[in-house]
Amino acid sequence: MKVLVTGGAGYIGSHTVLSLLDNNVQVVVFDNLVNSSIESLKRVEQLTGKTVEFVAGDIRDTAVLDRVFQQHKISSVIHFAALKAVGESSEIPLQYYQNNVYGAVNLLEVMAKYQVHDFIFSSSATVYGEDNDVPYVETMKLGSPSSPYGASKVMVERIMADYALADVKFRGVSLRYFNPVGAHESGEIGEDPTGIPNNLLPYLAQVAVGKREKLNIFGDDYPTKDGSCERDYLHVMDLAEGHVCALNWLHANAHFTGVEAFNLGTGCGTSVFAIVKAFEQATLKNIAFDVAPRRLGDLPAFWANASKANTELHWHAKRDLAQMMRDTWHWQSKNPDGYK
Ligand SMILES: NC(=O)c1ccc[n+]([C@@H]2O[C@H](COP(=O)([O-])OP(=O)(O)OC[C@H]3O[C@@H](n4cnc5c(N)ncnc54)[C@H](O)[C@@H]3O)[C@@H](O)[C@H]2O)c1
Repeated sequence: MKVLVTGGAGYIGSHTVLSLLDNNVQVVVFDNLVNSSIESLKRVEQLTGKTVEFVAGDIRDTAVLDRVFQQHKISSVIHFAALKAVGESSEIPLQYYQNNVYGAVNLLEVMAKYQVHDFIFSSSATVYGEDNDVPYVETMKLGSPSSPYGASKVMVERIMADYALADVKFRGVSLRYFNPVGAHESGEIGEDPTGIPNNLLPYLAQVAVGKREKLNIFGDDYPTKDGSCERDYLHVMDLAEGHVCALNWLHANAHFTGVEAFNLGTGCGTSVFAIVKAFEQATLKNIAFDVAPRRLGDLPAFWANASKANTELHWHAKRDLAQMMRDTWHWQSKNPDGYK
């Protein structure tokens, strides 16, 4: 039996494929490479000494998905494939809903056709919206995220819940990621954004490698310890291992049906200034930065209550901030132009 990994050539997907292979799980990666390179999977093959089965295709293309389910004995699906740039999602909302919402529905329909019930979904802390208190707990009501990207994640969670009521065999797990950073310790795979990075760590690493002049820190007057925003950063390999734990949890709970959500975070908030300092300490590089005005929609601070994942999935984020910084730098300095 094999696990179908949609979006498996991407940042979190490639690290997860590596973890799955290291745990002797057979995978088929399905990706249209709209935001990734096949090189990531070649490197996963080199690192693991195993072959990655790859199908080029779009999750909105029923015919190609059909063929995958006909050709492979798929037991479960880990669904990463999505567009993920928060800002861009306000510029092209229809494409985001088409890709992220329609794509997920199409995938669930094909799964139903082939009697595949186990579905692990890449959700996000953004589903908690703007009004919940921190730390976020899974029992909280989902919020109304301000971006179409965030809304697409809330919609897919809602679709999973509705579908679970209608199909008693459905077994959905929603993994709500906080802020994944870092790279595999080999420095061979990592985050390779196209154009100007949207996220703090890739931007910071590009400043360190000389590709960008300065980091902009958006706001230093938030009601936080040092005035900059605080987020719950977790190492991408910890996040990857979270998926192996979720898969094991589904196997161990053979009678489970429905949908269960788990926060994947460290449980600690770290400020932007603290990240810059930790990066400088870990890499002995000086980071030039400017303080810029706040960005619309940025929350001051949020972090996870990860107790449910700790106790039920037996998952803990093990890697500390220094390792997150070292591994980010290792990847960036070894691959200044990413996979190109
Ligand atoms: N990176 C983060 O900070 C973060 C945080 C929370 C949630 N997530 C979610 O985790 C998932 C993976 O994120 P990532 O950071 O690895 O992003 P990524 O862009 O690196 O990976 C997404 C992958 O999906 C593929 N893809 C996109 N649309 C597709 C389609 N229609 N058909 C087939 N493949 C398609 C892309 O080519 C890419 O390889 C996404 O669902 C994202 O929304 C990411």
